[in-house]
Amino acid sequence: MPTVRDVKAKAGEEPITMLTAYDAPTAAIVDDAGVDMILVGDSVGNVALGHETTVPVTVDGIAHHVGAVSRAAEDALVVADMPFLSFGVDEKDSIENAGRMLKEEGAQAVKLESGPHTVDITEQMTQLGIPVMAHLGLTPQHVNQYGGYPRQGTDREAAERILNLAIEHEEAGAFSLVLEHVPSNLAAEITETLDIPTIGIGAGPDCDGQVLVVNDAVGLSEWSPSFSKQFGAVREEMASAVDDYVSAVESEEFPAEEHSHEEADLEDLY
Ligand code: KIV
Ligand code: NA
Repeated sequence: MPTVRDVKAKAGEEPITMLTAYDAPTAAIVDDAGVDMILVGDSVGNVALGHETTVPVTVDGIAHHVGAVSRAAEDALVVADMPFLSFGVDEKDSIENAGRMLKEEGAQAVKLESGPHTVDITEQMTQLGIPVMAHLGLTPQHVNQYGGYPRQGTDREAAERILNLAIEHEEAGAFSLVLEHVPSNLAAEITETLDIPTIGIGAGPDCDGQVLVVNDAVGLSEWSPSFSKQFGAVREEMASAVDDYVSAVESEEFPAEEHSHEEADLEDLY
């Protein structure tokens, strides 16, 4: 079974790879490619469930996807992203919600969008045996405060705040840290300062690893952020397959003889 120890051991030796996945077939593809960690991101809200933000994602909702991904992943570490308000409000609820991802859904770790309010809960979960991935910089669950998705840590004071929070979360026991949409030199500084691996998204080349939303990476998304890169054109491929299917049915080319079951002897029916 993959463990957070493997991930920590890889840091500084080789780049760590991480992608999101929300369903079993995608998780199987990602796992077969040898990706180190699969994040069942709350990005499922906008990426797969048609919401505008991650805010509406529920614990039951993410649990459903964590189960699907865990059943398909063999080698990758599965990290369950904890949804908005499922942690950091009440300690008991936070632990039960996170614990459920390991106990019932097969994840090996959780990710919490971090801030001053998650230091204690990170320590508590770690002590209980729930490995925590911290997440600083742009934390999309704050979209209603940001009024969008602006880059974070762009002035000295803000950068220092993020660096200090990173240190506090490492001290609290986080096994790694996602840095989202921050200046590369800040990400480099944090990576240099911390012992635990940093995983960047829109955070430049100097983190210990990288993460992308899988739909963005394979070119399935209609839109993807500028810091993302499309390594394929799955959307075009799917659209063309669906077009071909529609044409084939309309033209009565499908199903052909070879797609049809042998006729049964239904004599008695008449
Ligand atoms: O939900 C998500 O996909 C994430 C990653 C982009 C880090 O949090
Ligand atoms: Na997320």
